[in-house]
Amino acid sequence: MRAASIIRVCGRQASTAVSRRALLRTGIRSAVPSTVRSYASEAKLTRETYDVQRLEHFGKLSDADIAKFKEILQSDSALVQDQDDLLQFNEDWMRKYRGSSQLVLKPKTTDQVSQILKYCNEKKLAVVPQGGNTGLVGGSVPVFDEIVISTASMNKIHSFDPVSGILVADAGVILETADQYLREQGYIFPLDLGAKGSCHIGGNVATNAGGLRLLRYGSLHGTVLGLEAVLADGTVVNNLTTLRKDNTGYDMKQLFIGSEGTLGIVTAISILCPPKPTSVNVAFLGLESFKKVQDTFVQARSELSEILSAFECIDQGSLNQVAEHMDSPVPLDETYPFYVLIETSGSNKDHDEEKLNTFLENAMENESVLNGTVAMDETQAQNLWSWREMVPEALAKCGGVYKYDVSIPLPQLYDLVDDTKARLQEAGVIGETDEYPVVDVLGYGHIGDGNLHLNVAVRRYDKKVEQLLEPFVYEWIQKVNGSISAEHGLGFAKKNFIQYSKDAGMLTLMRGLKSHYDPNGILNPYKYM
Ligand code: FAD
Ligand code: MLT
Ligand code: ZN
Repeated sequence: MRAASIIRVCGRQASTAVSRRALLRTGIRSAVPSTVRSYASEAKLTRETYDVQRLEHFGKLSDADIAKFKEILQSDSALVQDQDDLLQFNEDWMRKYRGSSQLVLKPKTTDQVSQILKYCNEKKLAVVPQGGNTGLVGGSVPVFDEIVISTASMNKIHSFDPVSGILVADAGVILETADQYLREQGYIFPLDLGAKGSCHIGGNVATNAGGLRLLRYGSLHGTVLGLEAVLADGTVVNNLTTLRKDNTGYDMKQLFIGSEGTLGIVTAISILCPPKPTSVNVAFLGLESFKKVQDTFVQARSELSEILSAFECIDQGSLNQVAEHMDSPVPLDETYPFYVLIETSGSNKDHDEEKLNTFLENAMENESVLNGTVAMDETQAQNLWSWREMVPEALAKCGGVYKYDVSIPLPQLYDLVDDTKARLQEAGVIGETDEYPVVDVLGYGHIGDGNLHLNVAVRRYDKKVEQLLEPFVYEWIQKVNGSISAEHGLGFAKKNFIQYSKDAGMLTLMRGLKSHYDPNGILNPYKYM
């Protein structure tokens, strides 16, 4: 057996215990200190970067419209019109897309949403539903002057049943707030992701977000039991059921899950929440190849089975970028081509630790894993998690990032990173100095779900780089029967590429649904398909 430093297994040293998780959790947009994001100037207007034409049938905002919205919302503060205040609603998290909306509305009730949409539909005023604006495909911000309808003021928890574990809450509840509320009752939200401090649960449902523990708790298509939504014409669809089983008719809620604001505005959800695990272990491992990552995953599924709750992978380049922005030392003394974060969640500490220890001993014995560290307490666990959760923010600090969130059969998954890097190297656009637009090509993600995040970190957004990447990446994915979006959605970024993952028949069905539910096309135009 190779010399190892699996900490609790071998009992040789203590894991580094510097926790910056609190900072990281809030390190997303709304709560971020201004200095942290001062590296990039404001995004260029999407319509100019991508040469989009405004749809002529849409109305233009008038003083009479503003007066009507004031009447509906009964409060001036529920309307945002100040240019400085509008910027954060017009620009996306990556600072890649920017619209020029002149109005943000913040309704408090479903009835207000209904009145707003009814009016907008009659006047053909286009709208963009917006939650926490953490979306990564440009779906949450306007392209032109669409009115932003923010769920920020719809943030009440309606009910929680501690017997069934079913939560009913407004769409605008922040994910972390929902999770904290549930933890106090002995439960957790079945979704967790790095933007939890800012994203809204309605936004999560609208994007069908996957996150860090889909492997264990499944997709929102399974956990969301019901929802309430408002259609383009103002009709309120009430399907806020709290039943586990309901076989009466078409399962209409599924249409709204992942529809990214194109079919209606989700105003509330009902969701099945798992009990809070009482025993959680986190291990951070170093591996020599992506083949070993796969071997370790197969072994983890078999040996950790029911307690495995996350299997995340980070490549060396991604970890290096995080290291530049973290105060704490890297989790492992030596560098490795790949790192894996494994989490177990269960209810019996001794049982879970024994299982994990046996798994780690076996993984080192057969040399799938070369080195590793196991958190000894919650603070250390949070610190290890932060090395994974910090990746998107660290990469964005390079200046910008071209993001590809893809599903690929596991054996070919990392080849996409290698092939993309080779292509950009050949084109001479990657380098260490400012003259090169590209800093690096990196891969990380939810390997347990077959979901890779291919990221091209750039010093500045650059058309030549984009043209080298697209449609190359999408063609590559199509060849291996993958999906061009595993969890982030289509938004503006992938609107023109959906045919790489959906055939003509599916697209006809989707377009038919869209025109049925939103005949004037006012809901989130210029996006999705
Ligand atoms: P927004 O960004 O505001 O909106 C996203 C889309 O949903 C838009 O098209 C918008 O129009 C629509 N929408 C929002 N609210 C509603 C509503 N109430 N009704 C109808 N439509 C609506 N995503 C993952 O899947 N997994 C991850 O692990 C993950 N990690 C992330 C980490 C970081 C650091 C960041 C910045 C983002 C991450 N994301 C991840 C992407 C993003 O956080 C998710 O897509 C999230 O679900 C978006 O929620 P939001 O409230 O911010 O929605
Ligand atoms: C993640 O897994 O970290 C998120 O999906 C965000 C990203 O892809 O950058
Ligand atoms: Zn992800």
